Amino acid sequence: MRLTKTIRKTRAQNAKNKARSKNKLLTKRFIAFAVSIVIIGGAVFRIIYIKQNELTFPVLSPPASDALYKNPSQPIEARVKDLLERMSLEEKIGQMALIDKRSLSKPQDIKDFGLGGILSGAGAKPSTNDPQNWYRMVAEMKKQSKESRLGIPIFYGIDANHGHSNVLGATIFPHSIGLGASGDAELVNKIAEATASEIKATGINWNYSPSLDAPKDIRWGRVYEAYSDDPGLNSKLGVAYINGTQGPGQSYILASAKHYLGTGSMVWGESNHKKFKIDQGKILNDEHALNNYYLPPYKAAVDAGVGSIMVGLSEWGDTRIIDNKYLITDKLKTELGFKGFVVSDWYGAYEYSGTSKYRANINTINAGLDMAMLPYEYKAFIKDVRKAVQKNEISQGRIDDAVSRILYQKFRAGLFDEKEQDPDIKIVGSIAHRQLARQAVSSSTVLLKNNEVLPLSKTNGEILIAGSGADNVGRQSGAWTVEWQGIDGNWVPGATSILQGIRQTVGNSGVQIHYNKDGAFNDRKKKADVGIAIVSEKPYAEGWGDNPSPRIDKADLETIRRLKLSSNKVIVIIISGRPLFINDEIKSWDAAVAAWLPGSEGAGIADVLFRDKSFSATLPLPWPAIESQLPINHDGATKDQSRPLFPRGYGLTTN
Ligand code: GLC
Repeated sequence: MRLTKTIRKTRAQNAKNKARSKNKLLTKRFIAFAVSIVIIGGAVFRIIYIKQNELTFPVLSPPASDALYKNPSQPIEARVKDLLERMSLEEKIGQMALIDKRSLSKPQDIKDFGLGGILSGAGAKPSTNDPQNWYRMVAEMKKQSKESRLGIPIFYGIDANHGHSNVLGATIFPHSIGLGASGDAELVNKIAEATASEIKATGINWNYSPSLDAPKDIRWGRVYEAYSDDPGLNSKLGVAYINGTQGPGQSYILASAKHYLGTGSMVWGESNHKKFKIDQGKILNDEHALNNYYLPPYKAAVDAGVGSIMVGLSEWGDTRIIDNKYLITDKLKTELGFKGFVVSDWYGAYEYSGTSKYRANINTINAGLDMAMLPYEYKAFIKDVRKAVQKNEISQGRIDDAVSRILYQKFRAGLFDEKEQDPDIKIVGSIAHRQLARQAVSSSTVLLKNNEVLPLSKTNGEILIAGSGADNVGRQSGAWTVEWQGIDGNWVPGATSILQGIRQTVGNSGVQIHYNKDGAFNDRKKKADVGIAIVSEKPYAEGWGDNPSPRIDKADLETIRRLKLSSNKVIVIIISGRPLFINDEIKSWDAAVAAWLPGSEGAGIADVLFRDKSFSATLPLPWPAIESQLPINHDGATKDQSRPLFPRGYGLTTN
């Protein structure tokens, strides 16, 4: 009995063990099965995802060497037509993509994706910043584009609004507000030609200039990039700049009039950018202002043959301008007859779009955008736009119109026909260009007040010099100089600070010059004849310069105070990107000079201080007295109807 029981128990235990191990085996098999499903599923998903998202280009053969579009003797229209007919949809969309060079995963992507444009956004320089290395960097990218199936060359673009200012050693001309003060179209034309020749020497073929903005509010961080708040002066100088840039001189560089349109009329406090106050903001939807103030400079630019126009990041009423078909297609392309191509500003298709990138591409291209400064995801752009065309959300006709406009400008610029030649590197920062820039400095410096103290004697006297801007080429050049936000300090090779310019002019002619940045001359026994305080703004670009109350900073005000204690007369020279509120301070100065952002040739200031040149410049926009006067309308009317400190057109001379 006991044996039977034991056997039974053993058998039961064995059965239990068998069942348990069977369960374990089943569990293991199930887990293995589940894992394999996940792995296979994942792989299948990846294949589907890649398939769907893979940017596969149709494999097409290269064109014959005698293809019509390659023949420079053929009319541009015929070359565009022939080339367009040969292009795949993907190649067409590739031409509509403008990429910052830092976004390329490899230079060969230019060739593989047939990209239309590359840019050096501010600061996107070669590892060694000199003209030769700029040339080499750009040449490599141009080579990639020429090795693409159809060999369509790239436009390589850069911001050279006050000289080829990204390049160390280039001539830094006065920022546009100073040129506006000169009012001299011939000078602007020569500066544009000189700049174009320095751009060409580095292999670059596109300059995102001129700005046709018209600032009505000095609190904006981009006042200095504009010539004036007056559409008439903007038209005159903008056309002069376009003509100097797009030939007929020795260098043809594609120009971009910007930022279309009405930029400068945004409303304070309405910026879409959470850290800005007015830049990238809202412009009131005002048809009268549109037709009488905002459009005329662009009509002048179109009539002058500008090859591209850049749309700004502002809103027109409640619509982004970049989404606004009425403004871009109906007004600019149809009414004004613009035949060039429309390019967006940095990330402009997507910034503040309120929708997906896919939808934003559709909205902007259908509004009339031809080339998108993405500037990052070119593969996604090509894939999305291809999908939108396949779904007929963008018509093939719109794509063909955009690409035709781009190709036309490439043929017009001679990109298909240019012969490799050694770059004229020595023209970058040449003596002739620096002399031109020095002339521009003296022609743009405005004399605001003069109690019989200017011009100064070149042969005798004792002068004290002080202030944050006296010996600081970074401040006298402003932003958009090598770095986007500029660089404070004396670092620009080949440049001359204002102090150095004064020393060069009178340092060896019997005039005693003493310099102390803070104006600390308290060890003096007697007062000097004259104290010159050169005050300055720190460099700033775009919305980072939005300032509720632009004024002379405390340190410089303290310097002026000290200088008054040690000088019989005090002259204040203001280095700034805009008028500053000096309503009270100016009363105690003997003379006041607005020098704007003169650039690398600071000696031009000495030329007017010591009468080598007469002061001749006048204010290109009103100089407000107090904040309540802002914004000041294009007709000069201040918001509170009170009188500005100085009206547009004001300026004293020293004959
Ligand atoms: C910037 C500016 C524009 C410039 C562009 C390329 O954001 O708004 O003036 O041309 O991007 O650098």
